[in-house]
Amino acid sequence: MDFSIQSGQPDQHTYGCLVVGVYEAAVLTPSAKIIDQLSEGYLSQLLQQGDMRGKLGQVLMLHRLPKLKSERVLLVGCGPEKPITMQQYQTLIGSMLAALNQAGAAEVKTFLTEIAVQNRDHDWKVRLSVETIHRNLYVFDQLKSEKETLSRPIRQFVFQMEKSDDTKLAKQALIAGSAIAKGMNLCRDVANLPANICNPAYLGEQALALVDLSDKVDVQLFNEQALQDLKMQSYLAVGQGSENESVMSVIEYKGAQNKQDKPIVLIGKGITFDSGGISLKPGAGMDEMKYDMGGAAGVLGTMRALIDLDLPINVIGILAGCENMPDGSSYRPGDVITTMSGQTVEVLNTDAEGRMVLCDVLTFVERYNPDVVIDTATLTGACIIALGHHACALMSNHEPLAQDLLRAGQDSGDRAWQLPLWEDYQEQIRSPFADMANIGGKAAGSITAAAFLSRFAKPYQWAHLDVAGTAWVSGAKKGATGRPVPILTQYLITRANACN
Ligand code: BES
Ligand code: ZN
Ligand code: MN
Repeated sequence: MDFSIQSGQPDQHTYGCLVVGVYEAAVLTPSAKIIDQLSEGYLSQLLQQGDMRGKLGQVLMLHRLPKLKSERVLLVGCGPEKPITMQQYQTLIGSMLAALNQAGAAEVKTFLTEIAVQNRDHDWKVRLSVETIHRNLYVFDQLKSEKETLSRPIRQFVFQMEKSDDTKLAKQALIAGSAIAKGMNLCRDVANLPANICNPAYLGEQALALVDLSDKVDVQLFNEQALQDLKMQSYLAVGQGSENESVMSVIEYKGAQNKQDKPIVLIGKGITFDSGGISLKPGAGMDEMKYDMGGAAGVLGTMRALIDLDLPINVIGILAGCENMPDGSSYRPGDVITTMSGQTVEVLNTDAEGRMVLCDVLTFVERYNPDVVIDTATLTGACIIALGHHACALMSNHEPLAQDLLRAGQDSGDRAWQLPLWEDYQEQIRSPFADMANIGGKAAGSITAAAFLSRFAKPYQWAHLDVAGTAWVSGAKKGATGRPVPILTQYLITRANACN
């Protein structure tokens, strides 16, 4: 699909479909008014008959309006005439897209950029629209023998701006929206693949594929021997029961003027299947543990978006690939493991494997002298209990970094909510046999997991995003969501803007 920006009046050209908003109680938006005038009052008559009241997300497709060059006009209900929330705007775009796909209009021009959204400008609406359209059109059919295709997909999508001075920023917004969408699609593809295809080596191949896209990218893969040489015993312990070799992929993007600038480091939990190991999970729903590499997929997708955006910053993305399986050679409850940092951990539950892998990666990244480190992981079921599926959990050892990420979540629509990381929680992971235990009991499970990680993230500014509730959805529409690509990419965009 080809997106573009234009300014000017409705219906100077012929389109398959024009999209205009109608507020509740059948109030016409400015562009709807113009179409109404052009068509000699057709819209106002129709609205008077009560065919469309402008309820948020309501749609009505009209064909061949008198005196109008374009074939169709799609009316989209925008709710009461006052600024709506960004989630409502997303709903609106979603309803529009569904109606357009049913109609099969190939060229579309939308005027919905004129709908006011709380605290957001025109370019933001363009960006969110592009993202939402890509998101809603996404299908994962790689593994189906028969693919369903739209009979007449939208080919051209034009955003109409009121004033021509709005178009420059809007064009940048198009680029940003497309880059984030591409990153999200990659994230979803990789996360949706089952563990018999997407194993740690496959994650490595995906990382390597980025090298071909930019000369700013270098990738290095660490296999079990290399992890052994680094003394990453905790990471290795998790994978030792699996036939699939653990692979840590390190993607280096050098975009800053000064190649020596401290990098932003992103770490993604990449458990390609989490059976729980010897502390085996129950059978029901266990298939969803193929998504336990959602953090790594999010980092991969973010690096993909970063390449398209060509941002002038240095970023390192790490995919911590590993599989957690029960076997005669698996690590067991009671084992005491010496981490790369030298700190020892008593394993009380082999299903708390994410932190075992991540802790060694947190130590490993010290070598890059990072500016900040952000890890993202489908780390705890407790995160879903706390926040459900709307926000990811954020914990940090540095309040300004936490604030930056909360803001990036707001700005991208991929929201995070902060949980406390007070010293008080450390008590829960005390062990009589080692420096710490790998679980902290039932209470505050997401926080004690982060408290564990924080012991390895002392030398730098660090934040942790638990995406257990947001990386995928269960049920009829089961699948990866593409989160946390938007929040991470937004954070990088903001950081890049700050150094200009
Ligand atoms: N990958 C899971 C967390 C998870 C569970 C994510 C359900 C999404 C949905 C993680 O490795 C895990 O198993 N965590 C345990 C920790 C417990 C043993 C302390 C959990 O949440 O039950
Ligand atoms: Zn896990
Ligand atoms: Mn687990």
